[in-house]
Amino acid sequence: MVESIEYDLVICGSGLAGLRAAIEATKKSSKIKIGVISKVQVMRSHSVSAEGGTAAVIFEDEGDTLESHIYDTIKGSDFLADQDVAERLCREMPNEIFQLEKWGMPWSRRENGQIDQRWFGGYSFPRATYAADKVGFYEMQTLYDTCQKFDNIEFLNEWYVTSIVHDGERVRGITAIELSSGTFYTIKAKALIIATGGAGRIYSYSTYALSSTPDGLDMAYRAGLALKDMEFVQFHPTGILPSGILITEGARGEGGYLLNNKGERFMKNYAAKTMELAPRDIVSRAMITEIREGRGFKHETGVDCLKLDMRHIGDEKIKEKLGGIREISIKFSGIDPAQEVLAVRPVCHYMMGGIHTNIDGATELQGVWAAGEAACNSAHGSNRLGANSTSECIVWGKITGSLAVDYIEKGTTSEPWPEFRVEAEEKRIYDGIFRGKGSINPYEIKQELTDTMDEKAHVYRDEEGLVEGLKKIRSLKEQTWKHVDDKAKEYNTNFTNVMELDSMFRVTEIVLIGAINRKESRGAHARTDFPKRDDKNFLHHTLAYYDPKEPIMKTHPVTITNYKPVERKY
Ligand code: FUM
Repeated sequence: MVESIEYDLVICGSGLAGLRAAIEATKKSSKIKIGVISKVQVMRSHSVSAEGGTAAVIFEDEGDTLESHIYDTIKGSDFLADQDVAERLCREMPNEIFQLEKWGMPWSRRENGQIDQRWFGGYSFPRATYAADKVGFYEMQTLYDTCQKFDNIEFLNEWYVTSIVHDGERVRGITAIELSSGTFYTIKAKALIIATGGAGRIYSYSTYALSSTPDGLDMAYRAGLALKDMEFVQFHPTGILPSGILITEGARGEGGYLLNNKGERFMKNYAAKTMELAPRDIVSRAMITEIREGRGFKHETGVDCLKLDMRHIGDEKIKEKLGGIREISIKFSGIDPAQEVLAVRPVCHYMMGGIHTNIDGATELQGVWAAGEAACNSAHGSNRLGANSTSECIVWGKITGSLAVDYIEKGTTSEPWPEFRVEAEEKRIYDGIFRGKGSINPYEIKQELTDTMDEKAHVYRDEEGLVEGLKKIRSLKEQTWKHVDDKAKEYNTNFTNVMELDSMFRVTEIVLIGAINRKESRGAHARTDFPKRDDKNFLHHTLAYYDPKEPIMKTHPVTITNYKPVERKY
């Protein structure tokens, strides 16, 4: 017998977007019962790892403008952002900086006591609001603390959500496994917000937490919701070697620079005006070009890299503003960046794509919204600017939390509960995965899958590599890999790892097919065989709908309001 519980609003994901949504929902109605369900403990959500900043215009008196933030975002997106959405992001954000401050956010300050901001890539003004280099940690702590003030928010930590239950028209709940007991549950709900974050663990070399797998995206996809613009994957220029852990762009914002093996600041050849503070797609391409043309370094692990020099910033400023990455560098590479240069290279950091939503975060299924990195509301188009992600999480957490309450208050449906979907899901998971037979070690398959993505769908792509990548992923999927050795019920990580792998096959396939179909270069998608942007044929979003055989690919128009696409120059 399947256990059952009930909430008015279920929020999947306990990162910044999920927590902000919960707070907004409870502020709007203290009567609704909210369940925030997460695969991890709240403070292990990947948002905690955000380092360098949250973008917002707060110094109009010093010359910053909303118009400039909007245009920087759209230009950074290589004109694939929906311009009304980018505008909403920028307009809503300043209030959120002060709202967070009221809730206790310890923003870094200027000597006169004002909140401080720093430079980030692609901006015309230093508008990354920061708290040393632990922005995500402090924002999460602030929001989590705030959640504790409300009795109607319950946290279900360490639950694995497996599917959306719907009646063909509207959401009715989810199915999930409580990891501590291994019990399979239905959780009935009138409204659902998906805020499960990005899925950058489909790459081996990644800044993401190990939990950042595509299960949230995949459950939406299997429920019939489109995934949008999945071919656009962001590579952050400075993942530290050998692990790939993030070294914040704030290091360059505070004056750090990149060097090749000739000792040159090579960015002068790629973005002479902005240098290391060009947008991430441009800096990452420059780094890979330097490596390919023989001007990189070989790390002791054999990996190619460039060097990040922060020594001139000075010991005191590094300790005050970049203490977190100093600690990471010492612990994970044995180097103090105040004394020596760091070995860095581009590493998977963010997905511009996600669950297709409109400007309000609404999906194509009634009662379901998506917010934060799991969503693709198209604020970032084909390349997100640094510090705009935590902003997006907060803004659309707030918007979706409020709209979900409005929806709940309109009343419920009298349609029967679709039990057949729960039965089908139970069968898919327990017969298909848990009891599935197979001799091949799923961890080896997973490694091959993520290595294939690193090799074939990285900063530079081409038809041949992408097609080979897709073939490889499909052949891995065909192998008899369903293999859960551990049959325990409690905390069966073998089981959850295999469920995660199952979701990776479907989502990597969409990334690769989207990248094959997009025969142009735009933002983070750089095709060596089609090096130019092609607005005539590709100024559109990509949609992928579920079909058991292979995804059904469609296109969707880009909303252009005030800004005509032009060539990007930095
Ligand atoms: O470099 C960083 O601190 C990352 C920020 C972001 O992705 O927004």
